[in-house]
Amino acid sequence: MKKTFYVTTPIYYPNDVPHLGHAYTTIAADVLARWNKLHGNEVFFLTGTDEHGKKLANTAEKAGKKPKEFIDELIPEFKSAWKKLNIEYDRFIRTTDKDHEKIVQQILQKCYDSGDIYKGEYEGLYCVACEAYYTEKDAPDLICPIHEKPLEKLKEESYFFRLSKYQDFLLDLYKKNPDFISPKNRRKEITNRVKEELRDFSISRTSFDWGIPLPFDKKHIAFVWFDALLNYYSATQSSEKLKKFWPADVHIIGKDIIWFHTVYWPAMLKSAGLSLPKKVFAHGWWTINSKKMGKSAGNALKIDQLISIAGADSARYFLLREASFGDDGNFSEEMLIERHNNELANKLGNLISRVSTLAEKYSLQEKKGVALLPEKLKIQIGEHMENLEFDKALHIIIKFIDQTNEYLQDKKPWETHDSNVLYESANAIKDIAILLWPFMPETSERISKTFNFNISLEQLNAPLKISKIKKSEILFKKI
Ligand code: ME8
Ligand code: MG
Repeated sequence: MKKTFYVTTPIYYPNDVPHLGHAYTTIAADVLARWNKLHGNEVFFLTGTDEHGKKLANTAEKAGKKPKEFIDELIPEFKSAWKKLNIEYDRFIRTTDKDHEKIVQQILQKCYDSGDIYKGEYEGLYCVACEAYYTEKDAPDLICPIHEKPLEKLKEESYFFRLSKYQDFLLDLYKKNPDFISPKNRRKEITNRVKEELRDFSISRTSFDWGIPLPFDKKHIAFVWFDALLNYYSATQSSEKLKKFWPADVHIIGKDIIWFHTVYWPAMLKSAGLSLPKKVFAHGWWTINSKKMGKSAGNALKIDQLISIAGADSARYFLLREASFGDDGNFSEEMLIERHNNELANKLGNLISRVSTLAEKYSLQEKKGVALLPEKLKIQIGEHMENLEFDKALHIIIKFIDQTNEYLQDKKPWETHDSNVLYESANAIKDIAILLWPFMPETSERISKTFNFNISLEQLNAPLKISKIKKSEILFKKI
């Protein structure tokens, strides 16, 4: 039986078009999905949009539209953005999808029946941009620490989820599954906060109606996070053949929403009697001049702008190469161009162009015992991918490109016309392109056509078949 691999992104708020921050998480998920496909695993890659709640209701109202009507116009923007970035998801879930709404009601009822939901009154602070509750301790000046906007005071009848009951369960979960919260530094942070205090949280609202009604009290709609988190589960319940993917292998998220994913989410699942995801990986933020890039800050780089700098594959490469996954990164167009020019055009591009030009002229000659990519490097790359250390995996691949260029420089096949050397170099190119495929699928597929091999794990381990090679078109134009 094939191994299954289930990876998710957050479902984004479609209150505006997606930006570089959303692209980052979605590209990372795509890279992992492709890496797993390459290894013959059966993959389910889920992304989508988080459509209920006050924030969407407010935005639609300002635009003079009904929420659903407003959102329907934005969904194509998300789908086309992902397409332009060469992202291949398996389902785009919307929390207004009927199958999702049904599951949310089922789970609410389950948690209610198990005694984990009770009625009370919520009085406190709320950030509509986060769709999150705050205490005066988290926000002493009554300003949201993420969006830097004043918090709203709320007071309304509400149902609560008995989160406090799950303190020991959560601490035990983190202890027994050290990777559940990744990377490591985040685990300590969450563990300390959970140890300190765990308050029950409000899971329903009555002051507006853009949400899923509670099955046991229709005057209330579900709190948007209770609804949204369940997308990861509901997406696997819509057909028999998807059920086997549950639970997720990894939920990739930004560090802004780690509390919801590592505290609320496992407690909700436990309460509903469902199994828990294996890993939640929180990456860092892209900043511009050390300010988090975002819609509310007004400094967001849109997808078309991102792609227009150096193309989709270069953008994908840059985002995963520039900052280590887990840490913040400061975005600059200059840095993207620099990596595009120096690493992609000069190193990779030149290698392909040189070898394909010579191979067209002098043809290749098969050589027994050709030096393939060293096994050690393959293993190291595999370990980095397993740990979502994309920058380190790319670093090794780039080093191998350097070595291949040095080898050519040393052997000078343009003088010697040595078809053995050309064959060895073409083999190195094959391996480089296969390993780069998850990161830069379009580029990699172009290389595979020039050198006539399939992108597969078998090909990574097999010598290249001799064929007629034609000079490659230019892969990366220097900027
Ligand atoms: O939070 N740097 O949606 P959202 C890196 N609907 N990543 C960034 C980023 C930045 N500057 N800005 C955004 C929500 N992101 C909820 C999620 S999930 C059940 C519900 C990415 O539209 C990052 O993945 O605010 C972050 O967690 C996500 O977008 C937040 O998207
Ligand atoms: Mg946000």
